[in-house]
Amino acid sequence: MSPHARSVIITGGATMIGAAVAENFANNGDQVALFDIDVAAGEEVAGRLGAAVSFYDVDLTDDAAVSRGIADVVARHGGVDVLINLACTYLDNGLATTRADWITALNVNLVSAAIVTQIVVPHLKNRRGASVVNFTSISGDVAQAGRWVYPASKAAMSQLTRSMAMDLAPHGIRVNSVSPGWTWSSVMNTLSGGDRARTDEIAAPVHLTGRTGNPSEVAAVVAFLCSDVASIVTGANYTADGGYSAMGPERADQLMAQLTN
Ligand SMILES: NC(=O)c1ccc[n+]([C@@H]2O[C@H](COP(=O)([O-])OP(=O)(O)OC[C@H]3O[C@@H](n4cnc5c(N)ncnc54)[C@H](O)[C@@H]3O)[C@@H](O)[C@H]2O)c1
Repeated sequence: MSPHARSVIITGGATMIGAAVAENFANNGDQVALFDIDVAAGEEVAGRLGAAVSFYDVDLTDDAAVSRGIADVVARHGGVDVLINLACTYLDNGLATTRADWITALNVNLVSAAIVTQIVVPHLKNRRGASVVNFTSISGDVAQAGRWVYPASKAAMSQLTRSMAMDLAPHGIRVNSVSPGWTWSSVMNTLSGGDRARTDEIAAPVHLTGRTGNPSEVAAVVAFLCSDVASIVTGANYTADGGYSAMGPERADQLMAQLTN
């Protein structure tokens, strides 16, 4: 439990992972603003989580809309203490990705995180325990077949986290990122037709935990990074990936043992 109620903005908060992050803050007594373009899902999440959580219809690629949204949050909650840059697009056609799609995807995944942070920073300055958490991914550290844009955007977010952490440290603002592995999320739900068991089965060989993560497990790492307990942590990329990134190309197979067969 945080000793003081905080004002929290979560971009992409309408999605399953965003909702879990919001729920964690709300349970802690914080006030949460969800910024998203998915009005139906955003209003459903806000309605379900209660009075502490409000939905704002904000297109993150529209600077004026972002500024209006942040001004509304400041007017309503008296400031901003925490920003979670969670929104993303999976728009990516690998080698065949058009210039327009490259620009659209990087605009959502990378540039919007930078601009939202830029607009929020004046409000974060000198707020006790101010912090920013960016969402990166296991995809930012490895090659994945047919994907060029999304992994590049996530790798860039890791670097942006370090840059932000350096320049915002003098203002008492900590900046970290969280890197989920396969998480039971809207995209997994849609792709698998709602089949969690099948999704876990496919994820198992590449995660030490042998399963996908729960949104609440990712949310717990975000909550830790934003808490006073993490007051010495800044510029870090925290994995919440079930050990995916600890594994090498040999996975958990004993390849050397196969030499003797
Ligand atoms: N799902 C996973 O397994 C997984 C794994 C690693 C990392 N991540 C990261 O976790 C975060 C959440 O992932 P997810 O799978 O829940 O994503 P998602 O696609 O379900 O949700 C993304 C949200 O961003 C919103 N959004 C997109 N463009 C926007 C815009 N212009 N303005 C405002 N909102 C916009 C969407 O409406 C959506 O609600 C992302 O940053 C993703 O990279 C997810």
